[in-house]
Amino acid sequence: MDADAQKKAAGEAAAEMVETGMVVGLGTGSTAAWFVRALAARRLDVTCIPTSVATAELAESLGLKLTELGPVKSIDLTVDGADEIGPALSLIKGGGAALLREKLVWEASRRCVVIADAAKRVPMLGKFPLPIEVVAFAHETTALRICDALSECDLGVAPRLRVKDGAPVRTDGGNLIYDAACGRIEDPAALADALKSVTGVVDHGLFLDLADLALVGTPQGVVTLEP
Ligand code: 5RP
Repeated sequence: MDADAQKKAAGEAAAEMVETGMVVGLGTGSTAAWFVRALAARRLDVTCIPTSVATAELAESLGLKLTELGPVKSIDLTVDGADEIGPALSLIKGGGAALLREKLVWEASRRCVVIADAAKRVPMLGKFPLPIEVVAFAHETTALRICDALSECDLGVAPRLRVKDGAPVRTDGGNLIYDAACGRIEDPAALADALKSVTGVVDHGLFLDLADLALVGTPQGVVTLEP
């Protein structure tokens, strides 16, 4: 079973957790897209809150009913992918540049399920460069402050502005992304606090104490993990 088949199996397993009448948060990325397809195929009467323009377009094209967080205050279940799944279901997210909307939706959810292929499981977070979303104004200055915050956490790395096709990547909210190749994040909670204290940082891709369950596709089938 290749990585994409594992993602599909995890997405389909998560879709089985959805019940009629639920408000469902839809994540972003290739694994979340498998969940969206599987959910749409079930033709349940659900209302969905997408975490990105890309997911909204996919869900709408498949006939899912959409609404927005804000008017709706509470989400029954959110299903989303991750770039890394570490101990106690600590996560790195934001490879798809949707981390801010994802975190807003996750934090408004009664239950959050992360879906992934087996390669996403790691003994310690940090191999995947940590995405950090910053406002565009004076972002070079913010990047220096991020360097300081990383140093405070004994991480001597310089964050790199994410660029695609020769231009800085913009999030759906118009912000920029810096990626910090930390290597090993020994204390994710301390790093999360340090990054949030930097003016100009909107949010970061550390999702700690948010996931209630993981469904991980493996060559042997879908494995369920709890924090
Ligand atoms: C988007 C994310 C994605 O969930 C993460 O990048 C995983 O993507 P994929 O399912 O394509 O491997 O955090 O911001």
